[in-house]
Amino acid sequence: MAELSIGFTESERARVGELYWAAFRAKLRIAFRDDAAGAGQVTAALRPDRTLVARVGGEVAGMCGFHHGGHGAVDLSWARLRTGLGTVAAAWAALALAPLERRELDGVLVLDGICVAAEHRGRGIGSALLDAATELGARHGDQWVQLSVVDTNPRAEALYRRVGFETAGHGSIGALRHLYGFDRYRTMRKRTR
Ligand SMILES: CC(C)(COP(=O)(O)OP(=O)(O)OC[C@H]1O[C@@H](n2cnc3c(N)ncnc32)[C@H](O)[C@@H]1OP(=O)(O)O)[C@@H](O)C(=O)NCCC(=O)NCCS
Repeated sequence: MAELSIGFTESERARVGELYWAAFRAKLRIAFRDDAAGAGQVTAALRPDRTLVARVGGEVAGMCGFHHGGHGAVDLSWARLRTGLGTVAAAWAALALAPLERRELDGVLVLDGICVAAEHRGRGIGSALLDAATELGARHGDQWVQLSVVDTNPRAEALYRRVGFETAGHGSIGALRHLYGFDRYRTMRKRTR
């Protein structure tokens, strides 16, 4: 079974980044010149202290980011983008990422991307990460744990329902759907206790 804890070592950063980029590439790709630039920026920007990690046999098998204290799992600040990409590419990336930004909410642990390596899916690791996130929310004193799921991912939505999340709202990114490959998304919440 997987072992779960917050944080990853610098030697695990590339693996965590690879998982995150593979899972969320479709949404994030438009912000960057190419895959290498996007994967590189996202990997460098990952914060261990905002990442729950699942390991199987000591190897990273999955992760779930969360927002806390003004920071999420992927800290793509303007300063970081400008240093990594130069001013013009950073300005485009900041513009393209802005509609995807999640805000922190009082009393709510907002999750920031859950993914499990393809070869480890279907064995309960995603569910275990969601349980750990719920416990983390309770430890932080939050009443709710919240995530968003796009309309093109019904299997993930089914998993969230199965572990106790319910729909809290809907949204649409409107005309931007052509850029990001999805239109509507659903916000889902679960009580932490
Ligand atoms: C969603 C995800 C984190 C679930 O992790 P997991 O370890 O496979 O989850 P569990 O084993 O606890 O539960 C299995 C359930 O996850 C869902 N699931 C399985 N494969 C999936 C996939 N490729 N994409 C989305 N959901 C998937 C299904 O509901 C599945 O149940 P089913 O086999 O009865 O259909 C994982 O599949 C994944 O990383 N998918 C790609 C990235 C993604 O879609 N992230 C969610 C963004 S909101």
